[in-house]
Amino acid sequence: MTHHDQANTARCIDLRSDTVTLPTPAMRQAMAQADVGDDVFGEDPTVRRLEERTAELLGKEQALFMPSGTMANQVAVRAQTEPGDEVLIEAEAHIHYYEAGAPAALSGVTCRCLPGRRGVFTPDDLRAALRPPDQHFPRPRLVCVENTHNRGGGSLWPLETLKAVAEAARAAGLRMHLDGARLWNASVATGVPERTYAALADSVNVCFSKGLGAPVGSALAGTRDFVARARRFRKQFGGGMRQAGILAAGALYALEHHRARLADDHANARALAEGLANLPGIDIDPAHVQTNIVLIRLTRLAASTVVHRLEASGVRVLATGPQTVRAVTNLNVTRADIGSALAAFANAAGSPG
Ligand SMILES: Cc1ncc(COP(=O)(O)O)c(C=O)c1O
Repeated sequence: MTHHDQANTARCIDLRSDTVTLPTPAMRQAMAQADVGDDVFGEDPTVRRLEERTAELLGKEQALFMPSGTMANQVAVRAQTEPGDEVLIEAEAHIHYYEAGAPAALSGVTCRCLPGRRGVFTPDDLRAALRPPDQHFPRPRLVCVENTHNRGGGSLWPLETLKAVAEAARAAGLRMHLDGARLWNASVATGVPERTYAALADSVNVCFSKGLGAPVGSALAGTRDFVARARRFRKQFGGGMRQAGILAAGALYALEHHRARLADDHANARALAEGLANLPGIDIDPAHVQTNIVLIRLTRLAASTVVHRLEASGVRVLATGPQTVRAVTNLNVTRADIGSALAAFANAAGSPG
């Protein structure tokens, strides 16, 4: 690319995901200056600091740094099941829908899918799926919940519903895993501390690489015994990292500096949804936008057409179905960008030609 090309390349407004954010100069500086050591030997002070801080925020005994949310979730599944067991999970949950069949491939478990309303199910949904002990049935072992729920459109679990599901799980002798890739968003949106949600689950995954804007990293938290078991499976899955403090420093920076600002992403998402609600060719209820994910149903055109047209005008979104696209606000998106994105949608979604 020549200087001339660069000058003519307008900045792209990337709303595909909150994972597309780039580390800020201050974050890069924190990463460059991190104290590091071999974390498989337990000698990386920055990883330890991140794990301690995360455990404290989640009110858990320990946390374990992970390369990705997928690995954190799948280690949680592996550490709390045996091959042949059954995991009870909402049908569109990330662990089941977007993790490449990992529960079957890596843990040898089956997923029994529960019906969700924007990702949320009830204790009755859970109880209806439970079967009595019998040699014919897989053993139900683990319930997974996702807060906020990605395919539910960044939807929130009402705390009372989550409590009731946790109680039903406990009454049935099941463990519970919380996929809290965006738990930070849930807490900022509701004012309910992360540890209040986390207290309901045996294991919790949180991600630093989504809305918080770190380049890499997640953590899996639980009791000391659980984390010891998880550490073994992390190694088995290939997730033991060496001088990982360089990554952990970015995550720590994100944790301390980018959590409160998630409220801006939520306000931007709401503004986008409210603007979209006035446009032809779009069906959206802004009241459903509770955090930073905006699901947009297209009434006139295919998702692929609209994605293509938007891209041509410098706005990137993701198709999540034949007639749905997703826009996710994030650290790199300003309120002015929302205005530009709305103008692009007005051109892209309304008319066929
Ligand atoms: C709810 C949820 N869980 C887990 C993940 C997986 O995280 P990663 O992409 O770091 O593997 C994602 C990724 O978007 C997610 O949205």
